[in-house]
Amino acid sequence: MKLISTVKEMQGMANEVRMHGKIISFVPTMGALHDGHLRLISEGRRRGDILVVSIFVNPIQFAPNEDLNKYPRNLDGDLEKIKDLGVDVVFNPITEEIYPEGFQTYVEVKVLQEYLCGLFRPEHFKGVATVVLKLFNIVKPHVALFGEKDYQQLKIIQRMVKDLNLEVEIKGFLIVRDKNGLALSSRNSYLSSDEMERAFSVSKALSEIKKEFDKGIRDTKTIIEAGGKTLREVGITNIDYLEICDPETLKRKELAEDGDLVAVGVRLGGARLIDNIRL
Ligand code: PAF
Repeated sequence: MKLISTVKEMQGMANEVRMHGKIISFVPTMGALHDGHLRLISEGRRRGDILVVSIFVNPIQFAPNEDLNKYPRNLDGDLEKIKDLGVDVVFNPITEEIYPEGFQTYVEVKVLQEYLCGLFRPEHFKGVATVVLKLFNIVKPHVALFGEKDYQQLKIIQRMVKDLNLEVEIKGFLIVRDKNGLALSSRNSYLSSDEMERAFSVSKALSEIKKEFDKGIRDTKTIIEAGGKTLREVGITNIDYLEICDPETLKRKELAEDGDLVAVGVRLGGARLIDNIRL
């Protein structure tokens, strides 16, 4: 497993690999790796000749009042976790390598960023799209793998790839959950044990909503109420959104249909938790 920290070396290696007709698979991360990442990495291994994992906490996707400074960082721990997963390269640049002085070019996926998390984190997806495009230009992958927990991020990246004619295949993978149903996230480490207990209700709320849908109820306000109740029962009242939306446009729906996305974003203690399921 080779550790690369400069853009020049990473691009050089990617060019070399491509020249030999080899397939590059890529898993971009911000580190603090959990089983969700490890699943993506194992999938990535099967999909490429050379597997690159990036570990870079991207400052421009955090608002000034967000958790950039306390975001968990543990490079040695991360390298230990992935050492037996067949990763060929870990790309771990410092911030100045990605954003040198004078940096001023951004990418925005205008409409998809206006829903769900985007309403509460206005600059977030601009920061994500920009860094992902940069990483694609640096790592030059044929295929890149993302988790569906960040569903809106996945849709935004797919749209960017289509709109900008990027030659990379984007693959989404199912959410990985703990035994209580909590979607794995690096930010779960912010939760106290009491908050962790209450956090289980986030996925429970989604299941309650699905149950109402499965009973035949289609009015989204009525169905959503079942999930809202589950959250309020454990004192989760700081709900950014809990809604049913079209899985492609992310527009909120009034009548639910098979395949619609149920998405939730809540704040609990020092963490912001997101999750989703499909009806
Ligand atoms: O999902 C993440 O970890 C990040 O948003 C990503 C895609 C690595 C970009 O910084």
